[in-house]
Amino acid sequence: APEPATLVIFGATGDLARRKLLPAVFGLWQDGLLGSAFNIVGVGRQEMDDEQFKDYAIDALKTSKETDEIKEGSLEKFRELLYYEYGEFGEDEVYDKVRSELDRAETARGGGKNALFYLSTPPSLFEPISSGLGRQGLQDETEGWRRIVIEKPFGRDLQSARELNDAIHRVWDESQVYRIDHYLGKETVQNLMAIRFGNAIFEPLWNRGFVDHVQITASEDLGLEGRAGYYEEAGIVRDMLQNHLMQLFTLTAMEAPSAFEADAIRDEKVKVLRAVKRIPADRVPEVAVRGQYGPGALDGQTVPGYKQEPDVKRGSRTPTYVAVKLEVDNWRWQGVPFFLRTGKRLPKKVTEIAVVFKRPPLGLFPGGLERNVLAFRIQPDEGVSLKFSSKSPGQEMVLREVVMDFRYDAFGAQLESPYSRLLLDAMLGDATLFPREDEVDHAWQIVSGILQAWEGADAAAPKFPNYAAGTWGPDAADELLGPGRRWRRL
Ligand code: BG6
Repeated sequence: APEPATLVIFGATGDLARRKLLPAVFGLWQDGLLGSAFNIVGVGRQEMDDEQFKDYAIDALKTSKETDEIKEGSLEKFRELLYYEYGEFGEDEVYDKVRSELDRAETARGGGKNALFYLSTPPSLFEPISSGLGRQGLQDETEGWRRIVIEKPFGRDLQSARELNDAIHRVWDESQVYRIDHYLGKETVQNLMAIRFGNAIFEPLWNRGFVDHVQITASEDLGLEGRAGYYEEAGIVRDMLQNHLMQLFTLTAMEAPSAFEADAIRDEKVKVLRAVKRIPADRVPEVAVRGQYGPGALDGQTVPGYKQEPDVKRGSRTPTYVAVKLEVDNWRWQGVPFFLRTGKRLPKKVTEIAVVFKRPPLGLFPGGLERNVLAFRIQPDEGVSLKFSSKSPGQEMVLREVVMDFRYDAFGAQLESPYSRLLLDAMLGDATLFPREDEVDHAWQIVSGILQAWEGADAAAPKFPNYAAGTWGPDAADELLGPGRRWRRL
């Protein structure tokens, strides 16, 4: 278990804290993973006393789908760990109160003033909170460790991400900074490294000699979920591509690290990101496709188009779908395109990485010559499958595709929430699953041409909407793959 510590959640009454963080912390605590000397200070702008916050948090736990099974008496005990402070994040008073909370925790339980500050706020507050903590010297590690967890999106383009990194480094050392990308906390995403580097048979094939291309898909059936304020500013490129999809790509394409430890892994991730061909704005039309959903039908229900969602501007140009082709200029991947696609209001929720192999060199049998596919099902229905050709029973030598399938169910364990995993890692000081400064920077470098092209004077803009809710995105996405390739039907 981690040493005695206080978790300070900024934005404690926000949506993320309510739906994901509080349930994750509760689960860890209930399983005894946070030790006994642990408490939580919620910080928000909303005026509330401790009792009101405790009620709020307990209610959140009771209503969130993510909360583990609650053991008898657990909620009452967990309640005692909760405190609350409020104030304006631009002023010093609230940070002074946070400092008093750490003093109080120290007196109550001893054992140091270790603290994890979790910034679960709108991105515009990351810098003010980081600086406010700094003005109170709360980053100083002489009395205990101090770490800061920063939510996504980290910046809104390359320039602002760099400014944010600079502002944060004026207060914190990089070793204290934990930028969160919850996809890295997913069990199945970690398994990518396990399968690649824990087996002898995959890595020899994992290169331009055998792989035709790679497809990475993160489709969602959900629409806006009342998040227009955020999403109109972000759009799919900032919300999903720059972070989650780039992480999936990186783990698929990177070289083996020299050791399974934070910096060795992150060095390799940066190396492959550096090798990705940059996309200048004028090449964007060749390698990237965007879409925005119109009204349509999903699961037998009619759903409104993006522009009809509450609080979305009628003429909104915000993309809700993106597909992009990445080329990696290194020895391993020369000539092997990586196709990434993600979108809202597609037919279903599925995240998958598919390594599509080259065809056999010669077709000896009728029906042969299919491409083998190794597919990592990140979610749902977590597992890994390998598609290959086999003789179909009968007199004739006719081949048919079959699938060998591993399912996580086989372990008989429930997969933990990515937030639990990442919170615990941050408490333990393990940064392996957190993107480092240079990783974030490179990911922005790769997508920034796309943003420039689409957000500047944009002659090539398609007419939105260009796909109906409940379909697999705009037609142009099919052409992106080039002749002889098609998106997997998921
Ligand atoms: C979040 C995005 O980071 O990831 C959401 O802001 C998206 O728009 C979500 O729905 C998807 O996460 P998951 O874990 O459900 O695949």
